[in-house]
Amino acid sequence: MKKHMIIALMALLPVACSGSDEPEVKLDPAAVAAGQKVFAANACAGCHGETGTGDGAAAAALPVKPRNYSDAKWQAETTDEQLIKVINEGGAANGLNALMAAYPNIQGEDMKNLITFIRSLKK
Ligand code: HEC
Repeated sequence: MKKHMIIALMALLPVACSGSDEPEVKLDPAAVAAGQKVFAANACAGCHGETGTGDGAAAAALPVKPRNYSDAKWQAETTDEQLIKVINEGGAANGLNALMAAYPNIQGEDMKNLITFIRSLKK
């Protein structure tokens, strides 16, 4: 690549990276790591995938695919309260598919960290 092209690309980078008007929220890395443990311990990744893109090992067999957590639009439209409700009560109780089971066992600090982990999956 020619030198002037590299300089032009470097000048464009900050523009390309500031796509959203939202101020970037800094997530606590310790909470993200703890939340990932809750995600792993409850086998969420089996359907939702390790990075929450909905491509877990079991996902191919699901009639309704889990959504892609990296979707910034969905992240912006969905409140923490909505996520907590679906996780604690399950899909069926919230107008979603019953394949999303209820996890009433996830509470308190574990739930807070889990939500932080899900938020960290936004691209
Ligand atoms: C058996 C597969 C399976 C497992 C295991 C599973 N889910 Fe789900 N989940 C789904 C499916 C399928 C949906 C989508 C339901 C729909 O859109 O109708 C879903 C939806 C959700 C939603 C709602 C997202 C939205 O669309 O607004 C959340 C939040 C969620 N799951 C979190 C979790 C968490 C956290 C765990 C682990 C504690 C987990 N899920 C485990 C299959 C699963």
